[in-house]
Amino acid sequence: MQDYVLGHSKRELRRLMLQADNLRPITTRLLREIGLAPGMRVVDLGCGAGDVAMLAAEIVGACGAVVAIDRNAAAIAMARDRARAAGHANIEFVEGDASEMIGPGNFDLAIGRYVLVHQSDPVALIRAAVTHLRPGGVVAFHEVFLLGTWWSFPMVPLWENTGDLISKTFRSVVTYPDAGARMVELFHKAGVRSPRLFSETPVGGSPDSPLYAWAAETLRTLLPRAEEIGLAAPGEIDIDRLEIHLRQAVTGAHAQIGFAHQHCGWSRV
Ligand SMILES: C[S@@+](CC[C@H](N)C(=O)[O-])C[C@H]1O[C@@H](n2cnc3c(N)ncnc32)[C@H](O)[C@@H]1O
Repeated sequence: MQDYVLGHSKRELRRLMLQADNLRPITTRLLREIGLAPGMRVVDLGCGAGDVAMLAAEIVGACGAVVAIDRNAAAIAMARDRARAAGHANIEFVEGDASEMIGPGNFDLAIGRYVLVHQSDPVALIRAAVTHLRPGGVVAFHEVFLLGTWWSFPMVPLWENTGDLISKTFRSVVTYPDAGARMVELFHKAGVRSPRLFSETPVGGSPDSPLYAWAAETLRTLLPRAEEIGLAAPGEIDIDRLEIHLRQAVTGAHAQIGFAHQHCGWSRV
């Protein structure tokens, strides 16, 4: 099993929530295109702080059900607390490795977000996902593509360098940084029909864009690793003020900025 490199500190789980706010419209599009509807049964693989599970629970409603799996106890505890506070009685949380769980074959949807990139064997996770599904059920993933560049026009070096540092540090610790762009291949290897796909890129540039905080908090998580492998000198990056500096640099240049590409794919079994 590959360790989950970003950890599960309270701060990192809060970052997952901030990230989830940014990803919600894209995941919602995925759920809409799949045709998720009231009464359906969903399994969320690698639920983290529980955001995809709660999004699905809102759609399937009280007569539907969601099972959310994570191999980390702190993530499960936080996701369970949040779901309870939000009044979701239709989510069950299970601690364990989703790659090793054989499902009952009666779910309508098995979904994972930002989870294939963290697998040493993403094909094993897709195969395990399929065991949860009834015939005609859907397996789906929303993944970040970590090999693309973060662009800015006019160019803002601080934005592009921050993106570069995040991407390079990720690539040094995950086995499949390109999993989001290999879904056709990975689904094929798992014996699943070729997926339907779409991609979206979060873009910004206004002073109130959430991308500055998302980038700064992501780098905060990764900075110790970046310094450890020599991608950043200790103390070189003022991480506590990075969000402010990014906002100032981008708005001062009247620039439009692009974040990491988001790839979504799904297939009916
Ligand atoms: C980047 S987080 C994403 C969380 C959530 N899906 C979201 O988008 O907000 C990835 C989560 O997947 C979990 N995870 C990774 N591989 C897993 C596996 N094979 N089985 C269960 N959980 C896994 C990690 O513990 C972590 O909490």
